[in-house]
Amino acid sequence: MVDRSTKNRGFYCRMKFLHKHGRHHYDNNKNNNSSFYYRYFKWILWVCLSLYFFTSYLITSSHNKTTSLPTTKISSSKTNFISRALFESNNSVLQQPILTKASISSELKNLKIYIYDLPSKYNKDWLSNKRCSNHLFASEVAIHKALMESDVRTLDPLEADFFFVPVYVSCNFSTINGFPALGHARPLLSSAVQFISSQMPFWNRSNGGSDHIFVASHDYGACFHAMEDVAIADGIPEFMKKSIILQTFGVEFLHPCQNVENVLIPPYISPESIRSTLEMLPVNGKRDIWVFFRGKMEVHPKNVSGRFYSKKVRTVIWDTFNRHKKFYLKRHRFDGYQTEIARSTFCLCPLGWAPWSPRLVESIALGCVPVIIADGIRLSFSSTVRWPDISLRVAEKDVGDLANILEHVAATNLTTIQTNLWNPVNRRAMMFNNQIQHGDATWQVLHSLSQILHRSYRRSKINSQFNFDT
Ligand SMILES: *[C@@H]1O[C@H](CO)[C@@H](O)[C@H](O)[C@H]1NC(C)=O
Ligand SMILES: *[C@@H]1O[C@H](CO)[C@@H](O)[C@H](O)[C@H]1NC(C)=O
Ligand SMILES: *[C@@H]1O[C@H](CO)[C@@H](O)[C@H](O)[C@H]1NC(C)=O
Ligand SMILES: *[C@@H]1O[C@H](CO)[C@@H](O)[C@H](O)[C@H]1NC(C)=O
Ligand SMILES: *[C@@H]1O[C@H](CO)[C@@H](O)[C@H](O)[C@H]1NC(C)=O
Repeated sequence: MVDRSTKNRGFYCRMKFLHKHGRHHYDNNKNNNSSFYYRYFKWILWVCLSLYFFTSYLITSSHNKTTSLPTTKISSSKTNFISRALFESNNSVLQQPILTKASISSELKNLKIYIYDLPSKYNKDWLSNKRCSNHLFASEVAIHKALMESDVRTLDPLEADFFFVPVYVSCNFSTINGFPALGHARPLLSSAVQFISSQMPFWNRSNGGSDHIFVASHDYGACFHAMEDVAIADGIPEFMKKSIILQTFGVEFLHPCQNVENVLIPPYISPESIRSTLEMLPVNGKRDIWVFFRGKMEVHPKNVSGRFYSKKVRTVIWDTFNRHKKFYLKRHRFDGYQTEIARSTFCLCPLGWAPWSPRLVESIALGCVPVIIADGIRLSFSSTVRWPDISLRVAEKDVGDLANILEHVAATNLTTIQTNLWNPVNRRAMMFNNQIQHGDATWQVLHSLSQILHRSYRRSKINSQFNFDT
């Protein structure tokens, strides 16, 4: 952990130093007769301060190896950007009150969820791999954990509005490429449904699971395949078609992989990773990178069954801006890349195989304006998060014109977008916490569920009885 007090002292001295340094020039210009001793004293001061910063840098970086930032500097344009200090001085924006009983009854309409207790092969066994609860699809684990601990949970299925089926399907990592293999997802889910429908009456009672909830956090949601054409050909499994799917995949047009009741959720980024990135940053850091992207960028993307990775958008970005002095584009993964996002003004979020990207969440959490390049993408929690106010959307066909588009934004409304982005409501809604916090991603899911209580078997019974009685 970085010692906060060391950092604060560093900041204080730096301010003094800048002040003195400024005076130094001023004095020289104004008065060339300053005494020898005064100059001598300033040199000593300068050396001492340099030594101080050097050692405090060493201390900080030995505390945390990933602190060392790449030395590349990209000068940003003359526009005055909101420095990170403004944005990140208050980490507590990510830590809000936990979900209270009062808010459950008033805001969530007294929502109650029963969580099936499945054999561990469907969920907990996968957690033996640490990555399972941390990678970009890990909302399936995070939502389960958060619900287990929350007051929304009921142990009595007879009073439940909805039934949560906790099956983790994204943690079967391929030993060859490290990506999750999804081949087992359908049989595993099918067997879980078999299990719950034979043991308890609630699946059958709701006409095949219409008040049952699944998480499908991969590229094409409940189609369980990373390639769109295969995903579409396979479709959503028959047994899930009547249920409610919490999914990261969403587009604004008809698509077979979202042709089911669904709640759009953000990809998973661990709140701890964001917190520790914020902690290791210098307090008054500037956004010295103008446009940032790091990730897979094929120079010659292969035509895989008629499709090109990222519809070639990333290739065009690379070809057009790879030598542009204001673009910081890197093709290789680097563990400390969150610190680069925190140093950036614009963060490109182009489509990959699927339109959505974890970069979107990281950009918002770290105050970098997300530039979404994915035609037709539908974004999560749009009733809470005002996406047009905090992000930019660039059409795939316009990607070659990115530099001009972003220059225009910088000259007009960049400051407005950055200020909007600073609103903690947006950042909170993107984070899945272990314990549900008011307004966080799991809370948003619950809020969305409270809007579709008509699907609940129990509520419909209560309502029809109520109608009958009156
Ligand atoms: C940080 O933000 C929280 C809520 O947004 C607020 O209650 C708290 O006073 C703030 N702390 C500081 C030091 O500004
Ligand atoms: C993991 O995935 C592979 C490849 O799809 C599959 O053969 C294997 O059965 C899966 N493992 C489990 C435990 O489901
Ligand atoms: C639910 O329906 C299936 C198929 O119709 C049946 O096999 C199963 O026994 C039923 N479950 C219960 C608990 O009655
Ligand atoms: C990509 O491959 C498909 C067949 O898989 C072919 O029909 C199509 O013409 C190819 N497209 C290009 C641009 O090479
Ligand atoms: C900022 O300007 C761009 C056009 O340059 C526009 O597309 C976007 O909606 C504006 N955003 C805000 C929040 O004003």
